[in-house]
Amino acid sequence: MDGNGRWAKARHLPRVVGHQRGVEAVRKLVRSLKDTPIECLTLYAFSSENWKRPEDEVDDLMNMMRKFIKSDLPEFIANDVKLHILGDWRGLAPDIVALLDDALAQTAKGKRTLAVALNYGSQHEIARAATKAAAEGEITAESIERHLDTAPLPPLDLLIRTSGEVRLSNFLLWQCAYAEMIFTDVLWPDFTPAHLNDALEEFARRERRYGGR
Ligand code: IPE
Ligand code: MG
Repeated sequence: MDGNGRWAKARHLPRVVGHQRGVEAVRKLVRSLKDTPIECLTLYAFSSENWKRPEDEVDDLMNMMRKFIKSDLPEFIANDVKLHILGDWRGLAPDIVALLDDALAQTAKGKRTLAVALNYGSQHEIARAATKAAAEGEITAESIERHLDTAPLPPLDLLIRTSGEVRLSNFLLWQCAYAEMIFTDVLWPDFTPAHLNDALEEFARRERRYGGR
């Protein structure tokens, strides 16, 4: 979800307003999930590298996370959305960890998954998984995969990056092995369910061969 800062800057607004509009875009997208064939939507909300940002921006992002979980949990439950978290989220502030633990428990029976990457970095996820796999025996692609944070999720089919950047920025590196990718110039606060539908249509036109022919 990239481009919140540039969205705000283009309007001479504080960055935090861009992040707030970004949350609004998330909310609309999650509401639209029931009209799509998507089983699982994974959002890159806060990377393990985002700690490098100025303290006041990190504080704003953390406060928005607190607010979002509290305000939107009832809606997740009502819409059968199951929450899943990727990353070292247990290293976040204790009150956020408690809110997330509660949200995970309360949404455990949901049918569609909203996975949120929080304090997430893919290289570290893979290193953690490999360490666990090694402790159990042979390190294989399968044994690593069993220990990734995404283990309970369906395979990654489509990755969308907004805001014109063409890189993965340490997101789901392992899981992207055969994912289709779409890079769009749309800034995250402007990304609507209609854009998601366009992406799904483009995805449907792609021929996936997984190395075969
Ligand atoms: C959102 O966009 C990413 C988050 C950490 C939530 P940015 O804050 O990276 O926006 P740009 O790249 O400055 O436009
Ligand atoms: Mg950015």
